[in-house]
This record gives sequence, structure tokens and C-alpha cells, in this order.
Amino acid sequence: MLHAFDPDFAFETNILEAGAYFTHPGKDPEALPIHMSTAHNVEDVADLLERYKDGDYCYNRNRNPNRTALAELVKYTEGGEDAIACSSGMAAISTAIIAMTKAGDHILSDKTIYGESNEVFTDILGKYGVETSIIDFTNLDEVKAHIKPNTKVLYTETVSNPLCGVADLKALADIAHANGAMLIVDNTFMTGCLAKPLSMGADLEVISLTKFANGHSDAVTGAIIGSKELVKKCHALQVVLGSQADPFSSWLTCRGMRTMELRVKKQASNALALAEALEKSPYVKSVHYAGLKSNPFHELAHKQFGDYYGGMLTVELPEEDDYDVATSKFNKFMRTLKIPHYAMTLGGYRTTFSYPPHSSHDNLTKEQRYAIGITDSMLRFSVGIENTEDLVNDVLNALEVAYGK
Ligand SMILES: Cc1ncc(COP(=O)(O)O)c(C=O)c1O
Repeated sequence: MLHAFDPDFAFETNILEAGAYFTHPGKDPEALPIHMSTAHNVEDVADLLERYKDGDYCYNRNRNPNRTALAELVKYTEGGEDAIACSSGMAAISTAIIAMTKAGDHILSDKTIYGESNEVFTDILGKYGVETSIIDFTNLDEVKAHIKPNTKVLYTETVSNPLCGVADLKALADIAHANGAMLIVDNTFMTGCLAKPLSMGADLEVISLTKFANGHSDAVTGAIIGSKELVKKCHALQVVLGSQADPFSSWLTCRGMRTMELRVKKQASNALALAEALEKSPYVKSVHYAGLKSNPFHELAHKQFGDYYGGMLTVELPEEDDYDVATSKFNKFMRTLKIPHYAMTLGGYRTTFSYPPHSSHDNLTKEQRYAIGITDSMLRFSVGIENTEDLVNDVLNALEVAYGK
């Protein structure tokens, strides 16, 4: 029995002890309490060893009840055998990729994924002898042609950022496995409600829970999901890297995820309505959204995801020869919008937009950006759960104000 209080001790000792342990354990609370503790006290060495054996709680960096709760929830939503919760999507991506590669290995990565993921592979792992080739994963022949004897990981996203491209995950998994490699997929844009990369053959899924999964723009977390064996390797690395999710963010993310299905389906249907309206607008050059029948990825996306194509879409507004004219129209459009807000995030319940050249791909030169199809006239929308008509009318009105004659 852990000692908490002794009337023989002085006030300044007992003030540290009184109420330190639950004397009436609140069994089965309706909402999981937040366990903001760096450690869980142990009785003695035998107890400690028992906890190590059972994977019980000792020190926060190894395990914490809120993090376990989040991992259990994500394991279920993404359909994996096991999962760990990380301090951000980037923490999940870097922990997974470092755990799965070593010096001399080769990573084959997709060219239009989240820019910072490719930065980890090239700029960080590159310094430690891991080589990365960045190619177009929607072209399977190109993928096959770039496989090397030392290729260990193929890496892509369910819906790519910001061009909303869709790669054939089952075919990529088959190519990876036929060549002794694994497929890792980032499912941030879709979540387990709309896509299950593991069921399509991916070996590991990584996800930024910060975005659609939590959906409330108030916590930064991520997760790695997969087989027990692979997740165990990632957990061992997480403990030494310290890439674990903190208890409060884990708790917030669990809370947000309880309503994830309601949100992401509404976000996807709002995104489709907005994409269809924008496609008809005379002021829009193009709309990148796989839910549109005219989109080159539509058929594959339908096969992989069913009737929901996610809440992200990208539009290209008219380009002007004169930079000042282009910028002033662009800014007028942004300032006229009443519902969508400019924010350096995505996936929240409110519609937001960002400008990829100065967010996800800010690290690339203009030439590098144009080479992967990211132009200066692009805006990326993350669609929220607002009334569909309100949202569509607001965006069409702002286009008219900024670009109308
Ligand atoms: C597709 C994708 N993956 C990963 C991340 C990184 O997530 P986080 O900001 O939680 O580290 C982002 C961030 O926007 C993203 O868009």
C-alpha cells in the first residue's frame, strides 16, 4: 500500500501528501480523467519489474493512461493491430521512418506529399546515409523503374497535399512487397472514417491527428498504426526520442475523435458541393478534387474510398501577368470571404484556406514548386461543417467581388 499521509509528520511534509492518491477510486467515470503525471509510484522493485512485464505505468515518456486511451481509439479507427500516439503528425512520421530505415537504405517517396515529410527523408535522414528518390506515385511504371535493391520504404499519402492526387495503394503495396520493401501511408487527409490504407496492403499508417481526426484545431498529436511487431519497434524508438503525445493533448484528441465520423462526412459532402460550384465559376482556372467526375483520379478514388473524397480541395485562380495586379485580386478575394479563414492548418470544423507556396511548400524554390505542379495562383481549402449553401455562396460572392468586371 502506498503511503500518502501520516499525522506524525509535520505540516510541510503532509501538505505534499494529503490527497495524493485517490481514497475513493472514481470507478468508470463517464469521461476519462486527465492523467497529468510524469510518473506513477511503485511499491518496490518487485512491483516495478511486474509493471515492466505487463506494460504498466511507471514513467510518462514510456506510457501514460491518456496516451494509451488515444492509441486504443486510433488503433480501432484506422484498423490496425497496434498503435502509438505521438506528439505531432511530424513526430509520428519521423519516428516511423527512423525506426524502419538504416544507413545504406533507400526510400522511394511521392513528389506531392506534405513538404516537411520529404524534408525529413532528404535533409535529415540523408545526413545519416539513407538515400531518398522523390517521384510521381500516380505513375506506377515510374515507381517500378525507381525501385533499387536497397529500397526499403515506399511512402505516400491517401490524398496528396495540395494537389489532391490519389495513388493506387493496393498496387503500390504489391510493388513494395514484391521487392522486399514496405509501404507507409499518411492518412491525415482522410482518416479511418473514409480510408483504411492498412486494409489496402500498407504496412504502416502514419497520421496527423491534429487535423481532421481531432477536428477542433486545439491539439497537436499524431499516431503510427500497424502490426504489433512494427509498432513495437516504433514504440521503442519513441521512448528514447521522446516523441510521445502529452496527456492533455491525448485527452483533447480522444474527445475530438468521438465525433470524427459526423464531421468528416459532412466536410466531404460540403467539399464536393464547393468543388462542383467552383468548377462552374468563370473565375476559376481549375479545381483539384477527386470527387469531381472530371478529375483524373475520380475512378480510382471511388474504388478506394467509396462515396466520400475528403474535405480538402485546391483551386487555381486566374493568373495575371502583372504581379501587383495578381496579388491585389488574390488579397481582395481572401479579405472578402466571410466564412473561410486563412489559417496555417487544416481539418478543423470551420472552413480554412492556405496558400501552399507560403505554407506546406514554402521551403521550395519557385522552379521546384512549378515542377511538381504547385503554382502561384493556388489556394487550398479545408472545408468545414458549415451550412452548405452559406459556404458555397460566400466563396462565389468573394470571387465575383475580386475577379468580376
Ligand atoms: C498530410 C500531412 N501530414 C503530416 C502533417 C504534419 O502534422 P503535424 O502538424 O501534426 O505535425 C501535415 C500538416 O499539415 C499534413 O498536412
